[in-house]
Amino acid sequence: MSTRPARVDVREVGPRDGLQNEATVPVVDRVRLIDALSATGLRRIEAASFVSPAAIPPMAGSDEVMAAITRRDGVVYSALVPNPKGAERAVAAKADEIELVVSASETHNQKNVKRSVAESLVAARDVVDIAHGAGIEAEAIVSTAFGCPYEGDVAPERVAQIAGHLIDAGADKLSFGDTTGMATPRRVDDLLTELERAAIAPARVGLHFHNTRGTALANVLAALDRGVAQFDASVGGLGGCPYAPGASGNAVTEDLVHMLHDMDIETGIDLDALLDCAQLAQEIVGRELPSALLHAGARTRRYAS
Ligand code: COA
Ligand code: ZN
Repeated sequence: MSTRPARVDVREVGPRDGLQNEATVPVVDRVRLIDALSATGLRRIEAASFVSPAAIPPMAGSDEVMAAITRRDGVVYSALVPNPKGAERAVAAKADEIELVVSASETHNQKNVKRSVAESLVAARDVVDIAHGAGIEAEAIVSTAFGCPYEGDVAPERVAQIAGHLIDAGADKLSFGDTTGMATPRRVDDLLTELERAAIAPARVGLHFHNTRGTALANVLAALDRGVAQFDASVGGLGGCPYAPGASGNAVTEDLVHMLHDMDIETGIDLDALLDCAQLAQEIVGRELPSALLHAGARTRRYAS
Protein backbone atom coordinates (compact mmCIF):
# COMPACT_ATOMS: atom_id res chain seq x y z
CA MET A 1 0.00 0.00 0.00
CA SER A 2 1.32 3.44 -0.87
CA THR A 3 1.22 4.84 2.68
CA ARG A 4 3.73 2.23 3.86
CA PRO A 5 6.98 3.93 4.85
CA ALA A 6 10.15 3.18 2.86
CA ARG A 7 12.19 3.26 6.05
CA VAL A 8 11.35 2.26 9.60
CA ASP A 9 13.01 3.37 12.78
CA VAL A 10 13.32 0.40 15.15
CA ARG A 11 14.00 1.21 18.79
CA GLU A 12 15.56 -1.62 20.75
CA VAL A 13 13.96 -1.90 24.20
CA GLY A 14 15.38 -5.24 25.35
CA PRO A 15 17.89 -3.72 27.80
CA ARG A 16 15.00 -2.02 29.64
CA ASP A 17 11.58 -3.49 28.95
CA GLY A 18 13.04 -6.91 28.33
CA LEU A 19 15.42 -7.14 31.25
CA GLN A 20 13.06 -5.53 33.74
CA ASN A 21 10.91 -8.65 33.39
CA GLU A 22 13.76 -11.12 33.77
CA ALA A 23 15.54 -12.23 36.91
CA THR A 24 18.11 -9.53 37.75
CA VAL A 25 21.02 -9.44 35.32
CA PRO A 26 24.41 -8.07 36.47
CA VAL A 27 25.38 -4.58 35.30
CA VAL A 28 28.30 -5.97 33.31
CA ASP A 29 25.97 -8.13 31.22
CA ARG A 30 23.51 -5.28 30.68
CA VAL A 31 26.43 -3.22 29.37
CA ARG A 32 27.66 -6.05 27.12
CA LEU A 33 24.23 -6.39 25.57
CA ILE A 34 23.82 -2.64 24.97
CA ASP A 35 27.30 -2.36 23.46
CA ALA A 36 26.65 -5.31 21.14
CA LEU A 37 23.29 -3.85 20.07
CA SER A 38 24.87 -0.47 19.34
CA ALA A 39 27.10 -2.14 16.72
CA THR A 40 24.18 -3.54 14.66
CA GLY A 41 23.09 -0.29 13.01
CA LEU A 42 20.28 0.32 15.52
CA ARG A 43 19.96 4.08 16.03
CA ARG A 44 17.85 4.05 19.19
CA ILE A 45 18.34 1.93 22.29
CA GLU A 46 16.23 2.18 25.43
CA ALA A 47 19.12 1.47 27.72
CA ALA A 48 17.72 1.77 31.24
CA SER A 49 15.01 3.11 33.49
CA PHE A 50 15.29 5.41 36.48
CA VAL A 51 12.51 4.15 38.69
CA SER A 52 12.28 3.07 42.29
CA PRO A 53 14.55 0.03 42.78
CA ALA A 54 11.91 -1.30 45.17
CA ALA A 55 9.35 -1.22 42.35
CA ILE A 56 11.57 -2.81 39.66
CA PRO A 57 14.64 -4.47 41.22
CA PRO A 58 16.24 -5.53 37.87
CA MET A 59 16.62 -1.84 36.92
CA ALA A 60 18.68 -0.98 40.02
CA GLY A 61 22.16 0.04 38.90
CA SER A 62 20.97 1.90 35.81
CA ASP A 63 23.34 4.76 36.68
CA GLU A 64 26.25 2.33 36.52
CA VAL A 65 25.00 0.90 33.23
CA MET A 66 24.82 4.34 31.63
CA ALA A 67 28.30 5.19 32.91
CA ALA A 68 29.85 1.97 31.61
CA ILE A 69 28.45 1.68 28.09
CA THR A 70 30.62 2.65 25.14
CA ARG A 71 28.65 5.37 23.41
CA ARG A 72 28.61 5.09 19.67
CA ASP A 73 28.11 8.18 17.51
CA GLY A 74 24.66 8.36 16.01
CA VAL A 75 23.06 6.08 18.60
CA VAL A 76 20.50 7.60 20.96
CA TYR A 77 20.56 5.95 24.41
CA SER A 78 17.24 6.70 26.09
CA ALA A 79 15.94 6.09 29.58
CA LEU A 80 12.42 5.59 30.87
CA VAL A 81 11.27 7.59 33.89
CA PRO A 82 8.05 7.66 35.92
CA ASN A 83 8.45 11.05 37.61
CA PRO A 84 10.65 14.17 37.93
CA LYS A 85 13.07 12.41 40.28
CA GLY A 86 13.65 9.79 37.59
CA ALA A 87 14.18 12.53 35.02
CA GLU A 88 16.84 14.16 37.20
CA ARG A 89 18.60 10.82 37.62
CA ALA A 90 18.41 10.18 33.86
CA VAL A 91 19.92 13.58 33.10
CA ALA A 92 22.69 13.01 35.66
CA ALA A 93 23.43 9.68 33.96
CA LYS A 94 23.65 11.45 30.59
CA ALA A 95 20.70 9.80 28.89
CA ASP A 96 20.30 11.19 25.36
CA GLU A 97 16.53 11.20 25.60
CA ILE A 98 13.94 10.77 28.32
CA GLU A 99 10.83 8.64 28.00
CA LEU A 100 8.06 9.57 30.37
CA VAL A 101 5.41 6.93 30.98
CA VAL A 102 1.75 7.60 31.76
CA SER A 103 -0.96 4.94 31.55
CA ALA A 104 -4.21 5.59 29.73
CA SER A 105 -6.13 3.62 32.33
CA GLU A 106 -6.52 4.87 35.88
CA THR A 107 -6.00 1.52 37.61
CA HIS A 108 -2.81 0.69 35.72
CA ASN A 109 -1.34 4.13 36.41
CA GLN A 110 -2.12 3.75 40.11
CA LYS A 111 -0.51 0.30 40.25
CA ASN A 112 2.47 1.27 38.10
CA VAL A 113 3.42 4.68 39.50
CA LYS A 114 1.10 5.09 42.50
CA ARG A 115 -0.40 8.28 41.13
CA SER A 116 -3.64 9.22 39.39
CA VAL A 117 -3.45 9.91 35.67
CA ALA A 118 -4.18 13.57 36.43
CA GLU A 119 -1.25 13.72 38.87
CA SER A 120 1.07 12.11 36.32
CA LEU A 121 -0.02 14.61 33.68
CA VAL A 122 0.82 17.50 36.00
CA ALA A 123 4.23 15.96 36.75
CA ALA A 124 4.79 15.50 33.00
CA ARG A 125 5.44 19.23 32.66
CA ASP A 126 8.25 19.03 35.22
CA VAL A 127 9.74 16.00 33.49
CA VAL A 128 9.69 17.80 30.14
CA ASP A 129 11.24 20.89 31.72
CA ILE A 130 14.04 18.83 33.23
CA ALA A 131 14.76 17.19 29.85
CA HIS A 132 14.67 20.46 27.94
CA GLY A 133 16.77 22.16 30.62
CA ALA A 134 19.42 19.54 29.89
CA GLY A 135 19.08 20.06 26.15
CA ILE A 136 17.51 16.67 25.42
CA GLU A 137 14.13 15.54 24.10
CA ALA A 138 11.28 14.06 26.10
CA GLU A 139 9.09 11.39 24.61
CA ALA A 140 5.76 10.64 26.25
CA ILE A 141 4.69 7.01 26.28
CA VAL A 142 1.00 6.32 26.78
CA SER A 143 0.84 2.79 28.13
CA THR A 144 -2.23 0.51 28.24
CA ALA A 145 -3.17 2.32 25.02
CA PHE A 146 -4.82 -0.78 23.52
CA GLY A 147 -6.37 -2.21 26.66
CA CYS A 148 -5.74 -2.52 30.38
CA PRO A 149 -5.21 -5.78 32.26
CA TYR A 150 -7.42 -4.46 35.08
CA GLU A 151 -10.05 -2.39 33.26
CA GLY A 152 -10.27 -4.15 29.90
CA ASP A 153 -11.03 -1.92 26.94
CA VAL A 154 -9.59 1.58 26.97
CA ALA A 155 -11.46 4.00 24.72
CA PRO A 156 -9.27 5.35 21.89
CA GLU A 157 -10.85 8.76 22.57
CA ARG A 158 -9.35 8.68 26.07
CA VAL A 159 -5.93 7.67 24.75
CA ALA A 160 -6.03 10.54 22.24
CA GLN A 161 -7.08 12.98 24.95
CA ILE A 162 -4.17 11.98 27.19
CA ALA A 163 -1.82 12.25 24.21
CA GLY A 164 -3.12 15.78 23.64
CA HIS A 165 -2.38 16.70 27.27
CA LEU A 166 1.15 15.32 26.91
CA ILE A 167 1.73 17.40 23.78
CA ASP A 168 0.47 20.43 25.71
CA ALA A 169 2.95 19.54 28.46
CA GLY A 170 5.71 19.94 25.86
CA ALA A 171 6.45 16.33 24.90
CA ASP A 172 8.54 16.22 21.73
CA LYS A 173 7.39 12.76 20.64
CA LEU A 174 4.61 10.31 21.37
CA SER A 175 4.58 6.58 21.69
CA PHE A 176 1.73 4.21 22.52
CA GLY A 177 2.34 1.06 24.49
CA ASP A 178 0.46 -2.21 24.33
CA THR A 179 1.61 -3.04 27.83
CA THR A 180 0.22 -6.56 28.10
CA GLY A 181 -0.26 -7.59 24.49
CA MET A 182 -3.95 -6.82 24.06
CA ALA A 183 -3.65 -5.02 20.71
CA THR A 184 -5.00 -6.48 17.49
CA PRO A 185 -4.95 -4.92 14.00
CA ARG A 186 -8.51 -3.74 14.61
CA ARG A 187 -7.48 -1.92 17.79
CA VAL A 188 -4.47 -0.44 16.01
CA ASP A 189 -6.72 0.94 13.26
CA ASP A 190 -9.19 2.34 15.78
CA LEU A 191 -6.50 4.14 17.76
CA LEU A 192 -4.74 5.57 14.71
CA THR A 193 -8.07 6.84 13.39
CA GLU A 194 -8.82 8.54 16.67
CA LEU A 195 -5.33 10.05 16.84
CA GLU A 196 -5.72 11.43 13.32
CA ARG A 197 -9.00 12.98 14.40
CA ALA A 198 -7.01 14.69 17.16
CA ALA A 199 -4.52 15.96 14.53
CA ILE A 200 -1.83 13.47 15.59
CA ALA A 201 -0.60 12.01 12.30
CA PRO A 202 0.61 8.36 12.12
CA ALA A 203 4.03 9.52 10.92
CA ARG A 204 4.55 11.19 14.33
CA VAL A 205 3.53 8.13 16.30
CA GLY A 206 5.71 5.37 17.74
CA LEU A 207 4.17 2.02 18.65
CA HIS A 208 5.22 -0.52 21.24
CA PHE A 209 3.76 -4.01 21.02
CA HIS A 210 4.05 -7.09 23.19
CA ASN A 211 3.57 -10.51 21.65
CA THR A 212 1.66 -11.97 24.58
CA ARG A 213 -1.20 -13.11 22.36
CA GLY A 214 0.84 -13.61 19.20
CA THR A 215 -0.35 -10.44 17.44
CA ALA A 216 2.73 -8.20 17.56
CA LEU A 217 3.80 -8.47 13.90
CA ALA A 218 0.20 -8.42 12.66
CA ASN A 219 -0.18 -5.15 14.57
CA VAL A 220 3.00 -3.77 13.01
CA LEU A 221 1.68 -4.60 9.54
CA ALA A 222 -1.62 -2.86 10.25
CA ALA A 223 0.27 0.20 11.48
CA LEU A 224 2.66 0.22 8.50
CA ASP A 225 -0.36 0.34 6.21
CA ARG A 226 -1.43 3.49 8.02
CA GLY A 227 2.01 5.12 7.66
CA VAL A 228 3.52 4.48 11.10
CA ALA A 229 7.31 4.28 10.84
CA GLN A 230 8.56 3.85 14.44
CA PHE A 231 8.37 0.63 16.38
CA ASP A 232 9.83 -0.73 19.61
CA ALA A 233 11.05 -4.32 19.81
CA SER A 234 13.28 -6.40 22.03
CA VAL A 235 16.13 -8.58 20.91
CA GLY A 236 15.39 -12.28 21.18
CA GLY A 237 11.95 -11.35 22.52
CA LEU A 238 13.43 -10.73 25.95
CA GLY A 239 10.88 -10.07 28.62
CA GLY A 240 8.83 -13.22 28.88
CA CYS A 241 8.30 -13.95 32.55
CA PRO A 242 10.91 -16.49 33.72
CA TYR A 243 8.25 -18.14 35.90
CA ALA A 244 5.83 -18.70 33.00
CA PRO A 245 7.47 -20.99 30.44
CA GLY A 246 6.55 -20.04 26.88
CA ALA A 247 5.38 -16.54 27.78
CA SER A 248 6.51 -13.94 25.26
CA GLY A 249 7.80 -10.44 25.76
CA ASN A 250 8.00 -7.55 23.30
CA ALA A 251 7.82 -7.87 19.54
CA VAL A 252 11.06 -9.67 18.62
CA THR A 253 13.56 -7.25 17.02
CA GLU A 254 15.13 -9.73 14.60
CA ASP A 255 11.76 -11.14 13.51
CA LEU A 256 10.53 -7.60 12.89
CA VAL A 257 13.67 -6.56 11.01
CA HIS A 258 13.56 -9.71 8.87
CA MET A 259 9.94 -9.00 7.93
CA LEU A 260 10.65 -5.35 7.13
CA HIS A 261 13.69 -6.13 4.97
CA ASP A 262 11.75 -8.73 3.02
CA MET A 263 9.09 -6.06 2.39
CA ASP A 264 11.83 -3.76 1.01
CA ILE A 265 11.52 -1.48 4.01
CA GLU A 266 14.89 -0.19 5.16
CA THR A 267 16.01 -0.23 8.78
CA GLY A 268 19.77 0.29 8.54
CA ILE A 269 20.21 -2.78 10.77
CA ASP A 270 22.51 -5.73 10.06
CA LEU A 271 20.33 -8.79 10.64
CA ASP A 272 23.24 -11.18 11.20
CA ALA A 273 24.74 -8.91 13.85
CA LEU A 274 21.32 -8.69 15.47
CA LEU A 275 21.01 -12.48 15.55
CA ASP A 276 24.35 -12.61 17.35
CA CYS A 277 22.89 -10.19 19.91
CA ALA A 278 19.84 -12.44 20.31
CA GLN A 279 22.21 -15.33 21.01
CA LEU A 280 24.03 -13.17 23.56
CA ALA A 281 20.72 -12.20 25.17
CA GLN A 282 19.87 -15.90 25.54
CA GLU A 283 23.19 -16.58 27.20
CA ILE A 284 22.77 -13.64 29.54
CA VAL A 285 19.33 -14.67 30.79
CA GLY A 286 20.16 -18.37 30.66
CA ARG A 287 17.05 -19.55 28.90
CA GLU A 288 15.71 -20.02 25.40
CA LEU A 289 14.07 -16.85 24.11
CA PRO A 290 10.97 -16.81 21.88
CA SER A 291 12.74 -15.39 18.78
CA ALA A 292 11.43 -17.23 15.70
CA LEU A 293 14.37 -16.33 13.50
CA LEU A 294 17.01 -17.44 15.98
CA HIS A 295 15.54 -20.92 16.16
CA ALA A 296 14.88 -21.20 12.43
CA GLY A 297 18.66 -21.44 11.98
CA ALA A 298 21.03 -20.85 9.08
CA ARG A 299 18.55 -21.67 6.32
CA THR A 300 16.24 -18.82 7.29
CA ARG A 301 19.19 -16.58 7.91
CA ARG A 302 20.45 -17.04 4.34
CA TYR A 303 16.94 -16.65 2.96
CA ALA A 304 16.50 -13.48 5.02
CA SER A 305 19.59 -11.62 3.94
N1 COA B 1 14.05 6.65 41.14
C1 COA B 1 14.52 6.19 42.32
N2 COA B 1 13.90 6.38 43.49
C2 COA B 1 12.73 7.04 43.47
C3 COA B 1 12.19 7.54 42.28
C4 COA B 1 12.89 7.32 41.07
N3 COA B 1 12.42 7.73 39.90
N4 COA B 1 11.03 8.15 42.56
C5 COA B 1 10.86 8.06 43.89
N5 COA B 1 11.89 7.39 44.44
C6 COA B 1 12.13 7.09 45.85
C7 COA B 1 11.92 8.28 46.74
O1 COA B 1 13.07 9.06 46.80
C8 COA B 1 11.58 7.63 48.05
O2 COA B 1 12.77 7.15 48.64
P1 COA B 1 12.97 7.14 50.23
O3 COA B 1 11.92 6.19 50.76
O4 COA B 1 14.36 6.62 50.40
O5 COA B 1 12.75 8.53 50.66
C9 COA B 1 10.78 6.41 47.64
O6 COA B 1 11.15 6.14 46.28
C10 COA B 1 9.29 6.66 47.71
O7 COA B 1 8.99 7.86 46.97
P2 COA B 1 7.52 8.14 46.44
O8 COA B 1 7.53 9.37 45.61
O9 COA B 1 6.56 8.07 47.58
O10 COA B 1 7.32 6.93 45.46
P3 COA B 1 6.21 5.83 45.49
O11 COA B 1 6.48 4.82 46.52
O12 COA B 1 4.88 6.52 45.47
O13 COA B 1 6.46 5.12 44.08
C11 COA B 1 7.27 5.45 41.84
C12 COA B 1 6.27 5.84 42.87
C13 COA B 1 6.87 6.11 40.55
C14 COA B 1 8.65 5.89 42.25
C15 COA B 1 7.31 3.89 41.69
O14 COA B 1 6.01 3.39 41.65
C16 COA B 1 8.03 3.46 40.43
O15 COA B 1 9.25 3.56 40.35
N6 COA B 1 7.33 2.95 39.42
C17 COA B 1 7.91 2.58 38.16
C18 COA B 1 7.31 1.30 37.69
C19 COA B 1 7.93 0.86 36.40
O16 COA B 1 9.08 1.08 36.09
N7 COA B 1 7.13 0.18 35.60
C20 COA B 1 7.58 -0.37 34.37
C21 COA B 1 7.80 0.62 33.30
S1 COA B 1 6.31 1.27 32.65
ZN1 ZN C 1 6.44 -2.77 27.21
